[in-house]
Amino acid sequence: ATNRTFTMIKPDGVANDHIGAILNDITKGGFKIIALKYTKLTAENAGEFYAVHKGRPFYNDLVTFMTSGPIVAAILEKDNAVEDFRKLIGATDPTKADAGTIRNKYAKSIEANTVHGSDSDENAAIEGNFFFSQFERF
Ligand code: CMP
Repeated sequence: ATNRTFTMIKPDGVANDHIGAILNDITKGGFKIIALKYTKLTAENAGEFYAVHKGRPFYNDLVTFMTSGPIVAAILEKDNAVEDFRKLIGATDPTKADAGTIRNKYAKSIEANTVHGSDSDENAAIEGNFFFSQFERF
């Protein structure tokens, strides 16, 4: 069924000037942009967004990294959106991401891995609602 996922172009993707290329890969991959925003996370925002990772050894570094510069947030629509988007971006660790995936092409490390993709329909809804109101979706 047609459904939605949530993505961010992380601070490394923005700082390395990959916004345009990544949005192109996303639309060429068959995803329709429903909402789009250029913004910067505060420590409070990032801590809340990544609350599920609280207590993991990489949590503090993750929050620091995600607040180190602006990001692009988006809601995307496609059949099988969550799973297909995770295929398009590749594995969390870019050294394990398949050739041609967004992380394979642009990411430098497991932390600076360029893009986020929701891991379930439930989290896609939660994450989209975190960034976008009903008046920002088309
Ligand atoms: P993402 O899946 O978007 O959200 C959680 C992030 O935590 C993940 O991307 C990685 O960037 C980061 N992450 C996951 N595992 C590790 C790890 N072992 N070391 C550092 N960062 C990690």
